[in-house]
Amino acid sequence: MKGIVLAGGKGTRLSPLTQVISKQLLPIYDKPLIYYPLSVLMLADIRDILIVSTPQSLPAFRRLFGDGSHLGLNIGYARQDEARGIAHGLLIGADHAGDGQVALVLGDNIFHGTGFSEVLAKARQSLDGCVLFGYPVTDPHRYGIAEVDDDGRLVSVEEKPSRPKSDRAVTGLYFYDNDVFDIARSIRPSDRGELEITDVNRVYVEQNRGHLEDLGRGFAWLDAGTHQSLLEAGEYVRVLESRQGVRIACLEEIALRMGFIDSDSCYDLGRGMIDSSYGRYVMEVASMLA
Ligand code: DAU
Repeated sequence: MKGIVLAGGKGTRLSPLTQVISKQLLPIYDKPLIYYPLSVLMLADIRDILIVSTPQSLPAFRRLFGDGSHLGLNIGYARQDEARGIAHGLLIGADHAGDGQVALVLGDNIFHGTGFSEVLAKARQSLDGCVLFGYPVTDPHRYGIAEVDDDGRLVSVEEKPSRPKSDRAVTGLYFYDNDVFDIARSIRPSDRGELEITDVNRVYVEQNRGHLEDLGRGFAWLDAGTHQSLLEAGEYVRVLESRQGVRIACLEEIALRMGFIDSDSCYDLGRGMIDSSYGRYVMEVASMLA
């Protein structure tokens, strides 16, 4: 399975923060926002990853991650000249995906919870069509909303409905079989001129091949879409990290635990950032797991 991180868009809801910096590079406490969705793909054991972003922001992502080999990854980059929709961004990754399955994650989505790797592994194993990940929200008109039957099979999906049929938001993580590219090519732009991922998902629903994994209680799905939620996400990470002494979405640690790199390489990565507590944490973890 190949991975795609969609990190384009104009981030206008965060202006002026996003005037010269991509939203996905803004800090969420101790690391850039994109670390969080990237960590999700790594936890799903995905190592071939394409970052799709704007021509302006791509050089910064390239500076941040290079070819990804220091993390045992193979990271490529592709440009989306205009924000023409999430499904449009997905199509840019068609060659990258080849003829296999693909996981798409939105570059501004933060997931955190125990047993997440198991949830991801199960979703990969059972993938036939698409797997979406649902999360209960109090403001369903802001998201893609899913309705499911008792077996978790999707019955309907709607984008930002005025009268939501459930409180299950479709989060920004999507697992698809290779049909997704033909489906994305077949849909038409919405009234706001975008190729909507919800229209792609609706085709799977119509084919009875859409599933929803509920993330539910004990799990955090955060969005960093407004000034307030950006700060709250950072605060969430700070509180958990300082209480528990472990870091969320520490890519070096995940690479080590997933067996993508060895402890010596991990230690060296930490030493390269020795002036920061993040760097020293990476060194500690590497020593502990040596
Ligand atoms: O966060 C989950 C929600 O994401 C889902 O519940 C919705 O169904 C889905 O449509 C999407 O809604 P948003 O309104 O949050 O999408 P937005 O346009 O803000 O785009 C989400 C991210 O994707 C954003 O960080 C930028 C990136 N993006 C977006 C578009 C439209 C791109 O890279 N390229 C694009 O063309």
